[in-house]
Amino acid sequence: MREPRTLYWKGGSLYLLDQRLLPHRERYVRCRGYRDVARAIREMIVRGAPAIGVAAAYGVVLACKSSGSKKTGLETRVMEAAEEIKSTRPTAVNLFWAVDRMVRLAKEAKERGLDVYETLLHEANRMAEADIEANRRIGEYGKGLVPDGATVMTYCNAGGLATVGYGTAIGVIRAAFEEGKKILVLVPETRPKLQGARLTAYELKRIGIPYKIITDNMAAMLMSRGEVSCIVVGADRVLARTGHVVNKIGTLGLAISAKYFGVPFYVAAPLSSFDFEKRPEDVKIEERDEREVLTFAGKSIAPNGSKAVNLAFDITPPDLVSAVITEYGVYEPSGLMMLEKYAPLDTE
Ligand code: MRU
Repeated sequence: MREPRTLYWKGGSLYLLDQRLLPHRERYVRCRGYRDVARAIREMIVRGAPAIGVAAAYGVVLACKSSGSKKTGLETRVMEAAEEIKSTRPTAVNLFWAVDRMVRLAKEAKERGLDVYETLLHEANRMAEADIEANRRIGEYGKGLVPDGATVMTYCNAGGLATVGYGTAIGVIRAAFEEGKKILVLVPETRPKLQGARLTAYELKRIGIPYKIITDNMAAMLMSRGEVSCIVVGADRVLARTGHVVNKIGTLGLAISAKYFGVPFYVAAPLSSFDFEKRPEDVKIEERDEREVLTFAGKSIAPNGSKAVNLAFDITPPDLVSAVITEYGVYEPSGLMMLEKYAPLDTE
């Protein structure tokens, strides 16, 4: 079955597949200006670290376009857009990496007398292509870790929808499947936004990889019964200095259970999701609206007036991570700084 594109650029606008409506409706949202992109990221029309990064890059292109051919004010406009886009979601590092890169390029292009809009658009297109290429390479490096006949657990959605295409964790599973391995994927539903049940299941169904959805609280029991061969998840931010992995809330619990029951726990992430500076205590963990927890499929599930905690991400320490799969190979969490030399574009 055809795979829908997470995002595409056409006629001077960015189109984003509205992930809030999946799996039941496939509708694209047209972003004509950078504010549309900022709103789309905030409201999770587009989500998943690499997809957020590339959408944000196109957002900066749009900011530049709306300043017209007049050169005056362009820099201010790009800076304003960059700040607004960066304020949308604090945890996935790809957002900051992509926007900072675009701002720097805009300044350079202006200094060199180049067409800023064309330069930025070219770069955003390049980032989009590079993301798919990185994911394919992650798949190639990671597929050997998935045995034939494996039951693989993933988490949240780290597939084509969380990237420009192919996926990171799902890319690994997919590459193993495309090699002819028999695989069953266990898909935790991933409360409260249900990225697993809605998005990962949708993708796996389209690709044709067998899967079963589980509630999040079944994971440890399945591991205890020896029914999970390995776990592969994505990352919103890999802290290369310490080897900690920031990912969807619930990842930490899976990693603790995996360690206890001897299940290999792999993280698949491109270098655009790496942070070579920060330590765990410096990472801002997004806290979202409590209504996401207090409702299910739009219906209230708790007594009126209940309060809720809604942390969107957690941090898994390196001793729980068996390996990190990147587009440059498979690394131990203690050896991630070796990758700094490949860092595509450093953040400010
Ligand atoms: O809140 P989301 O849906 O943006 O969170 C997504 C995740 O946590 C993914 O696991 C992560 O971004 C990796 S995507 C390849």
